[in-house]
Amino acid sequence: MTTDRIPLAGVIGSPVAHSKSPQLHHHWLRVHGLRGHYIPMDVNTDDLAEVLGTLPKMGFVGVNITVPHKEKVLEIADLITDRATLIGAANTLIFRKDGKIHADNTDGYGFIENLRQGAPNWNPSSGPAVVLGAGGAARAVVASLIDVGVPEILISNRTRVRAEKLADDFGKRVKVVDWVKAGNVLEDADMVVNTTSLGMLGKPEMRVPLDGLRKGTLVTDLVYNPLQTRLLREAEALGCQTVDGLGMLLHQAVPAFERWFGKRPVVDAATRAAILR
Ligand code: ATR
Repeated sequence: MTTDRIPLAGVIGSPVAHSKSPQLHHHWLRVHGLRGHYIPMDVNTDDLAEVLGTLPKMGFVGVNITVPHKEKVLEIADLITDRATLIGAANTLIFRKDGKIHADNTDGYGFIENLRQGAPNWNPSSGPAVVLGAGGAARAVVASLIDVGVPEILISNRTRVRAEKLADDFGKRVKVVDWVKAGNVLEDADMVVNTTSLGMLGKPEMRVPLDGLRKGTLVTDLVYNPLQTRLLREAEALGCQTVDGLGMLLHQAVPAFERWFGKRPVVDAATRAAILR
């Protein structure tokens, strides 16, 4: 490989046309005056291994992985971080100089950094968290909440067995609450996180009754389209502190950008504006 090759990165998923990541990485490349490109790539699951084998030869330094390949990619990677193994999914790959593919999951990092920035007075150890949903995003959220010392996590999911599997995998601090009873445990919560797709543009609204929410409870939604979901609007009206989900998308990209392009970017108002354009 010649040394003056422009470093390439991108996102692999299907579909990927809607992805905000190209705008985000190009914004940071501009801010830092770096050469590089970030390309969305729509790839079928059957072709994933072949594509990942080829990209490093074309000057790619790494890629993000999104739906539906986040779990499958663990079968292809040579090295997997402990947190990606625990979560069972990766969102970031680094193509190492020795030819090995290194897989990591930075979703939990993005989730926590978004809360630290959006709710600077948040004290994770102050009380229980209620997590709605038990999919891949919920696994990343639960892993990171355990990491930062949340004492108890109550998981509620439409499909109960999925929540039970998650609780089994993550140990005693995680307990399962029936989906129809999720509203009943909100009054015990110091924080509430929606990891389901409910409230997303084109999806049904979140219907969990929120009237039990205490004033001051931290409520956050991983959905960022729309930015102000009904959950966040209603929580705000009840006097809760709310943080929208856009920051998680921005923060999860920070470690990847740094590894690929060599500079650690910041997430600020200009970053948000760049991807809301
Ligand atoms: P992700 O990796 O983004 O978490 P996922 O694994 O498909 O995606 O999980 C989506 C989450 O949204 C799940 O918790 C799902 O609940 P089920 O496990 O019961 O499928 C939840 N979800 C999606 N549509 C829902 C709906 N209409 N009502 C309640 N929960 C829903």
